[in-house]
Amino acid sequence: MSNYHIKHLEEYFQVYRKSIENPESFWEEIAEEHFIWRKKWNKVLAWDFSQPKVTWFEGAQLNITENCIDRHLATRGNKTAILFEPNNPNEPAEHISYKQLYDRVNKFANVLKDEGINKGDRVCIYLPMIPELAIAVLACARIGAIHSVVFAGFSSNALATRINDSDCKMVITSDGSFRGAKIIDLKSIVDEALESCDGVSTVLVVKRTQCEIQLKEARDKWLQPLLDMASPERIAEVMDAEDPLFILYTSGSTGMPKGMVHTAAGYMVYTAYSFKNAFQYREDDIYWCTADIGWITGHSYIVYGPLANGATTVMFEGVPSYPDFGRFWQIVQKHKVNQFYTAPTAIRALAKQGLDMVEKYDLSSIKVLGSVGEPINEEAWHWYNDNIGKKNAPIIDSWWQTETGGIMISPIPYVTPTKPTYATLPFPGIQPCLMDEDNNELIGNRVNGRLCIKFPWPSMARTIWGNHQRYKETYFSSFQDMYFTGDGALRDEVGYYRITGRVDDVIIVSGHNLGTAPIEDAVNEHPAVAESAIVGFPHDVKGNALYGYVILKDSGESRNQINLRKEINQIITEHIGPIAKLDKIQFTEGLPKTRSGKIMRRILRKIAHKKTTDLGDTSTLLNPEIVESIIKGSVDF
Ligand code: WT7
Repeated sequence: MSNYHIKHLEEYFQVYRKSIENPESFWEEIAEEHFIWRKKWNKVLAWDFSQPKVTWFEGAQLNITENCIDRHLATRGNKTAILFEPNNPNEPAEHISYKQLYDRVNKFANVLKDEGINKGDRVCIYLPMIPELAIAVLACARIGAIHSVVFAGFSSNALATRINDSDCKMVITSDGSFRGAKIIDLKSIVDEALESCDGVSTVLVVKRTQCEIQLKEARDKWLQPLLDMASPERIAEVMDAEDPLFILYTSGSTGMPKGMVHTAAGYMVYTAYSFKNAFQYREDDIYWCTADIGWITGHSYIVYGPLANGATTVMFEGVPSYPDFGRFWQIVQKHKVNQFYTAPTAIRALAKQGLDMVEKYDLSSIKVLGSVGEPINEEAWHWYNDNIGKKNAPIIDSWWQTETGGIMISPIPYVTPTKPTYATLPFPGIQPCLMDEDNNELIGNRVNGRLCIKFPWPSMARTIWGNHQRYKETYFSSFQDMYFTGDGALRDEVGYYRITGRVDDVIIVSGHNLGTAPIEDAVNEHPAVAESAIVGFPHDVKGNALYGYVILKDSGESRNQINLRKEINQIITEHIGPIAKLDKIQFTEGLPKTRSGKIMRRILRKIAHKKTTDLGDTSTLLNPEIVESIIKGSVDF
């Protein structure tokens, strides 16, 4: 029996049982046999969810990049580590071998050192999906700098907030980025952001689009000349197991984005282990995850998990619709991709285009299909299964979060029988449970409740950067001694989990996690807006779209509502990014409020869902009459 690589269902159940009955020896064995350590641990696990405080492999020392790169050099030096597919299909793909990756990461790490970056410093990375993004991430990890990757679709405001929250000393960006037919001036977005970031002393700029940019004296430097001058010498900082590896921001239901902190050893062990099993990766496979490294999916399953297993990981710069909607399948054919991991929103968008774009390409290399980021609906599941997998490639519907670091509930392909829309069973070491609102665990099958995890796992986030209290309140206060995910789920008659969606004010739009509060704050910045409330409603491609109820200061009749809608979305684009734009904006005279002044979102959600016959109890409202008027106003849409 192998704990590391599960090959059949019976083995899964045995391994799972062992991981629950004796978690410490389970993870210790995996850590011993599959990684290289500078020093072994004193204690595998210490935990107390009431603090909350969790440590894995305390006392151990390591460098994650030695596990992701150096140890493969002897056996896989010439194997492709990163296979870069550019936005432009006529530009050649780049195959970066493990040996080349080693050289490039060392050089980049030396540049960071030369520029005064030391262990523990925060470095913000704001780059498109080009090799330098992965290399910058690894170079930070190499010297123990804490990387904070910000998705390059975020606006200058959102970028500035994230840079300041974690006090980054440096930003790594590029002149611009190619996205389909568009060129985006990334550097000018950084320039704007830095007007309000005093802590940043250096900006390194990768040349990608050749567009013209401003270099600010003493602060901004082209990367290439620095690389040319840097020492190729091998450097690698010795890190403690619980040293922070990176910060990654995710939206909360209220307030500032949360800088989730992941630490070195546990994150490495779990992402490597889960990658191997979730994708059944074999030595010569070509693996492709279409996410952006700006999200956790890219951190764990484009960079760290695959590289820790010596895999070949594809990085795609472009978008699924350029030059046409066949691009994904053209890439699968071109590189003979074996494992393909994407989001339901992409599947739905591509399914809409019809089969012509699929049938042109040979997809026979595909062995495993993955889905992540939001619930996959039945129709999309079948389309994916029938037309991409040709009913021959299991779909792994993998549930997890930025906070969990790695895949938590997912079928293991060729091991766990799949069931459409079900994430099925927990991974070894993961102890999910369902809770009712009164803090009782729902025992047995055929139950529906709030999804919690009752025992620590190695890759869980350890805190929110600079705000441990918020970490405790958000994740460990709803249910006693449990990590609360924010999701609802049900367990069917055989114990399979199906994730039903968020139960808080986070809305997942096209697989992007958006909190309503920051969007409302942006909308309220419009001089004509008095107040707003945002809810989600079902959308056939995006999963959810955003519906905004907006109260205007002077009832709005005199203003052009079409222009107002445009202006509101413009403000959202500036404050957060285009992903947070509202699909529907309804101007209203008031919002349903409780006597304590809280907006009753439940009612607004129902109206946005067009479920107005069943609004529940509205008697506790301060202004029940407003409900009728909002319903009337909503029929226009
Ligand atoms: C939220 C986390 C983890 C990678 C990308 C998203 C939703 C994620 C699934 C799935 C149903 C899913 C949950 C979760 N989610 N995967 N397979 N089925 N819902 O990371 O941005 O931190 O979002 O995404 O609601 O809480 P994230």
